[in-house]
Amino acid sequence: IIDDPTTTSEDTALLNKLIERKAELETELAQQLNYFKEKHPIIKGLRSELNSINKKIEEERQRILTLKKKAIQYRILKREVETSKAIYESLLNRLKETRSIQNLRLTNIRVVDRATVPDKPVRPKKKMNLILALFIGLFLSTGTALFIENLDLSIKEPDEVQKYLGLPILGTIPLYKQKKDRSVHPALSILTNSHSRVLESYRAIKANLTLSNPDLSKRLLLVTSSVPNEGKSVFSVGLAGVMARAGEKVLLVDVDFRHPNLHQVFGIQRTNGLSDLLAEGVQNLHNYIKSTEIENLDLLTCGSLPPDPAELLGTKKMEEVIQDLSKRYDRIIFDAPPVLAVTDALVLSTRVDGVIIIVRFEYTHRKALQRAKEALEGVNARILGAVLNMVTPRGGGYYYYYYYHYGEKS
Ligand SMILES: Nc1ncnc2c1ncn2[C@@H]1O[C@H](COP(=O)(O)OP(=O)(O)O)[C@@H](O)[C@H]1O
Ligand SMILES: [Mg+2]
Repeated sequence: IIDDPTTTSEDTALLNKLIERKAELETELAQQLNYFKEKHPIIKGLRSELNSINKKIEEERQRILTLKKKAIQYRILKREVETSKAIYESLLNRLKETRSIQNLRLTNIRVVDRATVPDKPVRPKKKMNLILALFIGLFLSTGTALFIENLDLSIKEPDEVQKYLGLPILGTIPLYKQKKDRSVHPALSILTNSHSRVLESYRAIKANLTLSNPDLSKRLLLVTSSVPNEGKSVFSVGLAGVMARAGEKVLLVDVDFRHPNLHQVFGIQRTNGLSDLLAEGVQNLHNYIKSTEIENLDLLTCGSLPPDPAELLGTKKMEEVIQDLSKRYDRIIFDAPPVLAVTDALVLSTRVDGVIIIVRFEYTHRKALQRAKEALEGVNARILGAVLNMVTPRGGGYYYYYYYHYGEKS
């Protein structure tokens, strides 16, 4: 115990004294035993003193031991207290810091505007979407309409003829249904049905022609178009028929040497026609001119097909024939080939009083029509106007009605 470094000298002072005293007593006892026997009161006294000293030493040792134990416990407890204190202090510090930061924030922040609960939904934005839809819809529809309009460049309205060409519209002819009965050519069957809309439109065109061009009352007309199959021949027959019915003496001349078909319309032989007349002579005119089933309407077929029709039509002889014929007839109508295919129509156009251009509805290309018009103007032909053929009802009615009444007024 004494050697233990943890025990202090204070603690062991009493113990040391007791040990010293014991040693003294032991030496004294050893000396006295030289003189006295065991039973001697001095020896007895020494021994009892030694015993009590031993007892005291033992007691003291026990006391120190418990003291040491307590000291150890105390130290453990003390350390615990110290650590707890350190932890407590650091926590306290942190608490102080956060408090001070909180205080700082609280002083800096103000409520500027209180948040409110909206009464309308944020999304979807109905108004915005509607406006967007409107614009996108408009944009797409006009875009598509323009695209389609530019894709299909055919003439689709009477106004377009005037707009793109500056040509007056003489009238429109509706598209008629082809009859199954093939015994009468459709071009003629129109003329026999006096109440047909097609016949009405021919009459309107005739009225329009003569009223707007009084100088044409006894003149030569050339019917042509920009491309084939626009209805030149059918129109020539129709107009000639209507004029003949009105009492004019009319001659129909087939000058389409490429695709002659007037003889088929009237069921007459093609031979002994214009080309033969030009080859032989004007003297025997009556040999070539054929009368038709329509009163006042005569027909001059194209005759045998010449190698160069354009040259033939441009000869001096042709001019003489035309002059001679114009003396005998009130009206001569030439059914010519298309302008853009061959020059025949151009050659002849300068020798007549007026040219009528047939435009097929939703078929004739704007550009083609424009070029045909330019070609005719190039040879100084007098273009009377255009006829829009094979018009189909659109938007509840035929354009033809409008032009019919327009024609009557003028
Ligand atoms: N208004 C119309 N309605 C229906 N078909 C027509 C009309 N006009 C012409 N046709 C038809 O169109 C085709 C071509 O006509 P056609 O007069 O021979 O043309 P072109 O002489 O210009 O080549 C013919 O089959 C004809 O019956
Ligand atoms: Mg024809």
